[in-house]
Amino acid sequence: MLKFFKFFYNVSYNYFRILISLLIIIPSGDNMHLKLFIPGPTEVREDVLKMLSKPVIGHRSKDMSDLYERIHNNLQKFFNTNYEVEVFTTSGTGLMEGSIRNVVQSKILNLINGSFSDRWYKIALANGKDAKAFEYEWGKAVKPGDVENLLEKEKFEAVALTHNETSTGVRSPFDEISKIAHDHDALLIVDAVSSLAGDLIDVNKADVIFAPTQKSFALPPGLAIAFISPAAMEKAKTVKDRGYFFDFIAMHDYYVEKKQIPATPAVSLFYALDYQLEKMLKEGMEQRYNRHKEMARMVQDWAKKNFDLFAEPGYESVTVTTVKNTKNINVENLRKELRARGMEISNGYGKLKEKTFRIAHMGDLTPAEIKELLDTMDEILNR
Ligand SMILES: Cc1ncc(COP(=O)(O)O)c(C=O)c1O
Repeated sequence: MLKFFKFFYNVSYNYFRILISLLIIIPSGDNMHLKLFIPGPTEVREDVLKMLSKPVIGHRSKDMSDLYERIHNNLQKFFNTNYEVEVFTTSGTGLMEGSIRNVVQSKILNLINGSFSDRWYKIALANGKDAKAFEYEWGKAVKPGDVENLLEKEKFEAVALTHNETSTGVRSPFDEISKIAHDHDALLIVDAVSSLAGDLIDVNKADVIFAPTQKSFALPPGLAIAFISPAAMEKAKTVKDRGYFFDFIAMHDYYVEKKQIPATPAVSLFYALDYQLEKMLKEGMEQRYNRHKEMARMVQDWAKKNFDLFAEPGYESVTVTTVKNTKNINVENLRKELRARGMEISNGYGKLKEKTFRIAHMGDLTPAEIKELLDTMDEILNR
């Protein structure tokens, strides 16, 4: 009898232990896939991730040249341009620095309307440039009229515009600003970090325009892509101390000669980019933009119904919405509840941490996934 009791006790005890460990392990995040609705890195699809496990090839091999040439051509094809294209193994910040070092000897106008445009100004100063800052209240867009006035009064080699301020969810009028910059003989360098490949952008209207892979391209972090106009390439040839790693001319020469990159690139990410570009070409730029617009409308309608939008009306981003926390909810709690349900959104950026929260609708996400997120948030908030 005692033996039976002991056996029963041991079995129950062990079952209990297994059950407790499962309860701890399953929702712990190590094992659960959190679907990313944050403004980078964004959700990467399984089939794209698989490309990362292909055998690594030598970066000086013919296979690498073929891979890079295909990527080069498909980037030009998708974005409908003959501009110089370069792929750097870096994040977006690398090209914030690289673009300035290549096309600005001294005078640059930095248009600041949020945290990332402010970072770009600091990068210009850190590189010894004579940078002038023109600042807007966070949440506002850059206005073409202001740019015109500034360029009428003073000559600048380049204007730095953050097309989509990810910190505030504001999209500035790139086409108009491009015309004004060019009418005043200034190059336009554009941070399209969170909009390129999601929003409809004519890269031919910028002189340098760049984005990393972990936002609307829906790839893992690690690469950044730059499109460079013939005027910017000509200017780069005249700029002293362009540096080494981000030297556009060296990148160009290496490509022409070998279809390769001077330093060792993140080969595995190139496989993923190559594969993703094929998928993007199948979808098409216009269609990709329409999908982003539809998702943006869904999130913005939800935000207006339940809270408010942080962005100045008429300048709302197509890829990320910043929701004004008008009900003073505990944003961290909302994020925690969503995480427990397998979804991740972002808090506000920097000084907007608890005053706003951000929902990204970029990359390969679909309207159905956005609906699921919004329904889940309704369920949590209306409990
Ligand atoms: C508009 C914008 N610019 C620059 C950056 C910096 O890019 P990265 O983090 O890839 O260096 C970010 C990052 O979120 C961004 O959103």
